[in-house]
Amino acid sequence: MLEPSADEIRDWGDSAVQFMVDYLGDLHDRGVYRHMSSRRIRDRLDAALPTKGTDFDSLLKVFRETIIPFSRQNAHPRMFGYVQSPGVPLAAFADLLASTLNANLTVWRSAPAPVELERLTIDWIRQILGFNAKAGGLFVSGGSMANFAAIAAARQAKANSSGRLRIYASSETHFSIAKAAAMLGIGRENVHQVAVDEHFKIRTDDLVAKITADLDAGYVPFCIVANAGTVNTGAVDPLADIREIADRFQLWMHVDGSYGAFAILAESARKLFTGMERADSIALDPHKWLYLPVDVGCVIYRDPEKARAAFTHEAEYTRIIGEQGDETFAFWDYGPELSRRFRALKVWMLLKGVGLDALSQAIESNLACARYFESMVQRSDDFEMAAPVELSIFCFRHVPVQLKNKSAEAIDAFNERLLVALQRDGSSYLSNATLGGRFALRGCVLNYRTALRDMEILLDDLRRVARSLPRSV
Ligand SMILES: Cc1ncc(COP(=O)(O)O)c(C=O)c1O
Repeated sequence: MLEPSADEIRDWGDSAVQFMVDYLGDLHDRGVYRHMSSRRIRDRLDAALPTKGTDFDSLLKVFRETIIPFSRQNAHPRMFGYVQSPGVPLAAFADLLASTLNANLTVWRSAPAPVELERLTIDWIRQILGFNAKAGGLFVSGGSMANFAAIAAARQAKANSSGRLRIYASSETHFSIAKAAAMLGIGRENVHQVAVDEHFKIRTDDLVAKITADLDAGYVPFCIVANAGTVNTGAVDPLADIREIADRFQLWMHVDGSYGAFAILAESARKLFTGMERADSIALDPHKWLYLPVDVGCVIYRDPEKARAAFTHEAEYTRIIGEQGDETFAFWDYGPELSRRFRALKVWMLLKGVGLDALSQAIESNLACARYFESMVQRSDDFEMAAPVELSIFCFRHVPVQLKNKSAEAIDAFNERLLVALQRDGSSYLSNATLGGRFALRGCVLNYRTALRDMEILLDDLRRVARSLPRSV
């Protein structure tokens, strides 16, 4: 098994590819989710520490019979929970090839062509976003790590004082910003939460007021985090206005575009992102709205030299000997990781293999699904929207006739029970959000397989599952 023969490799490949064909072929007929317990899964796994090997068919059998049925089916067209991409078959092959080569993208000499491919692919992403030609960055594990790297770069560039540092971000900002502040020693409490308006976008008057008050109180403001698609509702902050405020106070502007930034590819959403290209850094997640499988996040810096100042580190075991110029390039100078896998291959294969036109169309179609759902809710008398649809996230509540005159608490409690029942039913999957202190059902269309019909099925599923709930409201 450690070094299989050519025939064995071919047999394994045939079985794995046949499995993939069957799995993707049945996807629409599978439930998105089923009720399961940790115990039940553990009971099915042979827990004995293996001393002798097992043949490939037996390993694949465990994958087919235990891993697959006891997983959430993220590729399903009605998987609307969280910010979950479906994955693309092309990337499964890219991952196979990347693991075959097992390139380690630390520095140019370790993986010359893979490093060039990553730099090329990052440059394509830079062009998609409209950043200047000097901008650059790297792939990381996900949006959280991209936010972490950007905040580290921001601190290095802007906060060389010993005072108490401050970051500004709306109350709708993803928790990875607060985690980054905690890990970097800035402190969660120094991420100053800024109020949002009725569209869940940052209120720039409150932003300016908070920065001014902090300056008066002796804090050291250094960074504003703007959202290009919040995790709860998909709100895009007024990016051009935030750039202007950042310039006024000489702060770093970071954009968290992990969920939404690739929607710039859709004509109907493009203008929301005006000003994004002038951010000092941006966090992106190709494993969200470029549909790729985890893990691949991305951070782009407008001036990569500023990031280099935060991350570069000399050591004898990494000293580059015998190379000059472009051949001395090291990714470790721009981010926290040393060993890095060949994430670029799947991004490159996707962009080159599918092309921007088809990706733009798929994103446009996701936006259309969310807007269609909103219009159906607005036309119904038993559902209400909890937030406006900006991108592909839709937040809403079911308010059937028997709940019409009940309290907000009763409606929230009913929707919470409905969420769990819907997830266990398995035909459609939603997650949840708290908006203005109230519970909301939350969906996010992030799958090129999702069609308008799926949005109708979701409403039908909700009504059907709601009718089956005990009437204890
Ligand atoms: C807006 C936003 N930022 C950051 C993240 C974190 O991304 P990741 O899960 O790739 O670390 C998410 C995840 O959903 C997100 O929606």
